Amino acid sequence: MALAAEAKRVAAEFELTDDDVRKTVAEFVAEMDEGLAKDGGAMSQIPTYVTGVPNGTEKGLYLAVDLGGTNFRVCSIQLNGDTTFNLVQSKVPIPRELMVAETAKELFAFLAKQIETFLRAHHNDHFEKQLRRRQTVSTPEGYRDEHIFRLGFTFSFPVKQVGINRGNLIRWTKGFNIPDAVGKDVCQLLQTEIDLLKLPVKVAALVNDTVGTLMARSYTSPGKTSTLLGAIFGTGTNGAYVEKLSKITKPLHGDYDKTTGEMVVNTEWGSFDNRLKVLPNTEYDAQLDRDSVNPGIQMFEKRISGMFLGEILRIALVSMMKRPDVPLFRDENSSHNDYHSTTTINEASPLHTQWAVDSSILSIAEADNSVGLRALRQQIESLLGVSAASIEDALAVKEVAHAIAERAARLSGAAVAAIVIHTGRLNQGASSVPQPKSAAAIVEDLKNFHLAEAASATANKLADTAGIAVNEEEIVDIGVDGSLVEFYPGYEDYMRAAMRAVPEIGAAGERRIRIGIAKDGSGVGAALIALVAAKMEQSNDYVGDLRQRLESVGEASQEQVILEEK
Ligand code: BGC
Repeated sequence: MALAAEAKRVAAEFELTDDDVRKTVAEFVAEMDEGLAKDGGAMSQIPTYVTGVPNGTEKGLYLAVDLGGTNFRVCSIQLNGDTTFNLVQSKVPIPRELMVAETAKELFAFLAKQIETFLRAHHNDHFEKQLRRRQTVSTPEGYRDEHIFRLGFTFSFPVKQVGINRGNLIRWTKGFNIPDAVGKDVCQLLQTEIDLLKLPVKVAALVNDTVGTLMARSYTSPGKTSTLLGAIFGTGTNGAYVEKLSKITKPLHGDYDKTTGEMVVNTEWGSFDNRLKVLPNTEYDAQLDRDSVNPGIQMFEKRISGMFLGEILRIALVSMMKRPDVPLFRDENSSHNDYHSTTTINEASPLHTQWAVDSSILSIAEADNSVGLRALRQQIESLLGVSAASIEDALAVKEVAHAIAERAARLSGAAVAAIVIHTGRLNQGASSVPQPKSAAAIVEDLKNFHLAEAASATANKLADTAGIAVNEEEIVDIGVDGSLVEFYPGYEDYMRAAMRAVPEIGAAGERRIRIGIAKDGSGVGAALIALVAAKMEQSNDYVGDLRQRLESVGEASQEQVILEEK
């Protein structure tokens, strides 16, 4: 009994009320404005120099790599031009020692090596052809520019972008920490290592995973509505959205296409409200932050993303275990436990180690609604290192885990709501379709014999209940990716409940927001941006560049040059 009451008490500390959501949204909108006006605010609002979103007709073969979480992915993507694509990929875990390496070179050399392995495995023909060409052609490049793979580099950390393939690392997040790389151009770091391996690859575009998700969703999403926001709720969290150029009042330094009047902005919302003006701050949040590699930074992310939720749960459970009056994971003897065994916390239990509890246990706890909570108890054994946990233990874990995840989802909903409100998208495309009348109003109409009106309102309400009342033009489309939103049961529903609590959105606005998973969006998105970048390159870039070089090395060497015909 004491355990159930304690679990309830701890869970209540994570409650985020509707009022909290509204305050969060208001502050979020204000910080978005601040970030668009000047650098140095909590939310970086980074201009990406991507000025349009795709429409599904784009074509071509591109490479993409993705660095941003636990794995490094290399893929090649064939865009078919009909909203479909074919993707081949390989994934390797990033060795932990490289995440905190002495020098940037160690990490980037590893990445280039993976690209080489991928090319040899999946595009060997092309690769070998390039090597032969290199041996037969005596230009410094060895082959023509168009035979080089264009690569989109998804680099999911805050970067000050200064052009479509140039950007300096602002800070590391998600457990990476290589101070040597901070301030450096990450595209150049990768290109240098690619060139050392003589790979036929040009880093054409630098992409945050949220921007990739936005692009991929736009390419594949049904209907003609263009996507407003790409968001990640995974190891980390962040969002990138389409902003009006006129609202980006801080200086833009790189080249970009001004004709669309828009630019994708990477919010870096993980650092929203680092000052904790509105964010909840339980003792567990405070301890997590104090013991992290970046105290005071990424405060929103530390309450939302997969990298941190397992750790919040660990800290909360340990604090409960420390209380002598709370029998968590403690049976007096085997008769107290329906397994007829005594609960034991293993010596090597992840509960004793910082960051050791995998966030997947939150999803498992939510999904297990069986009477005996067997699945959850199994995971308590494998993920928490507690054998023969009782039903009461499992119920306590479930209650606290649920509260942590629901708070995360509601905060995520607040972020989406703020973007929708800030961009005014709900005011665009609002149709003349009447909003459903309340049941009371329909009864009133019937009483007054306004039968036609009552019938139409009833039909509208029925259609609405069936989820078909929203016209295509009214939809606000959002692409999401990441383990939380994909695997946590009901994550989207909790997000939506939070959105409905915001008056500027309400139930009617929330229905117009369509959220779709853009699985592996970052790879496809990076390919799409590499395509845009390749188009932006001057078609005579290579020849022009070559002439310049020849002028500097003198006439004689010109005779050796074999220029292939296009
Ligand atoms: C990074 C973002 C990234 C997000 C999701 C955050 O830690 O700062 O750049 O988009 O994680 O991967």
